[in-house]
Amino acid sequence: MMPNKPLIIAHRGAKGMAPENTLAAFRLALSQGCQGIELDIHLTADDHIVVCHDSTLDRTTNGSGAIVNQTLMEIQAYDAGGWCADEYKGEIVPTLDEVFELVPQTVMINIEVKNAYSGRIECKLIDLLRQRGRVEDVVISSFDHKCIRRIKQMEPRLKIGLLYQANLLDPVAYARGFDVEVYSLHPQFQMLDAEDVQQAVAQGLRVYPFTANSEKDLSRLMEMGVSGIITDFPCRMKELVDARHS
Ligand code: G3P
Ligand code: MG
Repeated sequence: MMPNKPLIIAHRGAKGMAPENTLAAFRLALSQGCQGIELDIHLTADDHIVVCHDSTLDRTTNGSGAIVNQTLMEIQAYDAGGWCADEYKGEIVPTLDEVFELVPQTVMINIEVKNAYSGRIECKLIDLLRQRGRVEDVVISSFDHKCIRRIKQMEPRLKIGLLYQANLLDPVAYARGFDVEVYSLHPQFQMLDAEDVQQAVAQGLRVYPFTANSEKDLSRLMEMGVSGIITDFPCRMKELVDARHS
């Protein structure tokens, strides 16, 4: 039997070809046929949710310093595209709200919460999702499992995913050990084996490994029957999926 088509989830947008976590990267990923977008969020000094991987601006903008110490206006004055290629000069660090304006609700947004130490970002995120009617069509993930558990307790309609890099003995048992419903597992792809995938899928869990890019790795994961793959190259995965299901 032909396995289900895995979801093509663009990592920080089409990160392999455009400046990560910018509207340009998300636009490119959408044009390449992704069905999901993974992005990372932080809270600014004035409580806006911005999309950026690092907690500082140094690597991906021409600015510097910690996001948590700067206002949205200060952060959006920096260029977030020129470091990648001249054609992307003028890109800025987007707010999550600006991403919602771009990405249709038919595309799953996987919001990865970074640095949830203060506990403030969870409330802001839930408020925004409710205001924008996005509660039911996003998946919230984090390496901080207490954070996503808190989020699920605060808004039970949300889907939550467990990000992990450890080679867990029994990922399904770990997920089932939560006192709230876990929607998906997001393992580092090198750790995954076919048995883990089969058991998780049989138990109704989605399995979204990160971040696989080579044809060999993408094909191997598809062979295992994963529910989706987080990749820097959605176009490459699209070709493989199409060839496999033609
Ligand atoms: O959500 C998958 C992946 O993005 C986790 O690692 O460091 O790329 O955010 P990182
Ligand atoms: Mg991420």
